[in-house]
Amino acid sequence: MKTIGYAIVGTGYFGAELGRILNEQEGARVVAVLDPDNAPAIAQELHCDLETDLEVLCTRPDVDAVIVATPNYLHKEPVLCAARHKKNIFCEKPIALSYADCDEMVRAAEENGVVFMAGHVMNFFRAVRRTKQFIAEGKIGKVLYCHSARNGWEEEQPSVSWKKIRAKSGGHLYHHIHELDCIQFLMGPATEVTMVGGNVAHQGEHFGDEDDMLFLQLEFGNNTYAVVEYGSAFHWPEHYLLVQGTEGAIRIDMFNVGMTVKTADGEEHYLVHESKEEDDERTRIYHSTEMDGAIQYGHPGKKPPLWLHGIMKNEMRFFNSVMHGEPVPDEFKPLLNGRAARAAIATADAATRSLRENRKVKVEEIIG
Ligand SMILES: NC(=O)c1ccc[n+]([C@@H]2O[C@H](COP(=O)([O-])OP(=O)(O)OC[C@H]3O[C@@H](n4cnc5c(N)ncnc54)[C@H](O)[C@@H]3O)[C@@H](O)[C@H]2O)c1
Repeated sequence: MKTIGYAIVGTGYFGAELGRILNEQEGARVVAVLDPDNAPAIAQELHCDLETDLEVLCTRPDVDAVIVATPNYLHKEPVLCAARHKKNIFCEKPIALSYADCDEMVRAAEENGVVFMAGHVMNFFRAVRRTKQFIAEGKIGKVLYCHSARNGWEEEQPSVSWKKIRAKSGGHLYHHIHELDCIQFLMGPATEVTMVGGNVAHQGEHFGDEDDMLFLQLEFGNNTYAVVEYGSAFHWPEHYLLVQGTEGAIRIDMFNVGMTVKTADGEEHYLVHESKEEDDERTRIYHSTEMDGAIQYGHPGKKPPLWLHGIMKNEMRFFNSVMHGEPVPDEFKPLLNGRAARAAIATADAATRSLRENRKVKVEEIIG
């Protein structure tokens, strides 16, 4: 089996762990890392080279694919550089903070004939895969409505992470694009969006400048709808995705972790992640003070918990299999060319415009 050479740009919390996971895969080896602050220790740990110049990294003949795990506002340059040098790309979410940037990145990948996979991990939750399967089998009938909430409370921060600065992370809506992407995966792209909200309780030097309460209403053009909530101004924390159909409903609870399917036949219960141990660990973390509303939860040097490690492993195993030329199921094709990620950001941009201009916005206005 050929060994695929990977380079990682950004080896903080996520990039370092993606590297550890890749080195455990058959036919995969991390050959180089680049990070202005955290590369030396990770290069030593992963037994690979340390690069300091992006152009040099992207021209290395032993690099087949580049993993981009820099802060959100710094994804575009390494993605464009990798594409230009015909390297395949895995880019963390959100791939960019505007539709225009996403579009440029998707086009660059297409023009250079490379894979451009987005790190939308929810696609690799066992519960999400099962939900898609149940919907395809007609178990809950036609999907009419989805509701997601990703809400917690943010305390004062000793230092403010880039994850809380709107220009760097995009704020809750962009940084936690997962739920919006997942809903569009289940229901298709939204056509019209309304968003209200603002920064209601987190002003001052100990906080970033993102909005801490956001409420989106999505319309899909065929009498189907979704409501999406995000924020860090909620003392009653919630994290779930609810899918309502004509014949039943599915609830994926990521706080009190578990999946429930409700139909005329009664209730069925399933795991969200790979094992009961992973589900229970996630429940424990959400109920402890460790999570801090997903604010500084991940930072360089910290290791992801079991459940997150599990999905990252599924994700990297899949990306590595694609690099080895294994066939891609149709449902995953939009994830592998950046189009699903671009569609999620188009809807997020429509929501942002709606909030700013105090009106309902058609997604068409964004994508032109
Ligand atoms: N899929 C998920 O569930 C998930 C979870 C956490 C983070 N992420 C994503 O992963 C990415 C990284 O987040 P993180 O939590 O690892 O953040 P982090 O702050 O821990 O790491 C970011 C790293 O990027 C480095 N960096 C900064 N500028 C750089 C540059 N120009 N070139 C190379 N490296 C640079 C920093 O030094 C740091 O080591 C983000 O896009 C984030 O949204 C995804």
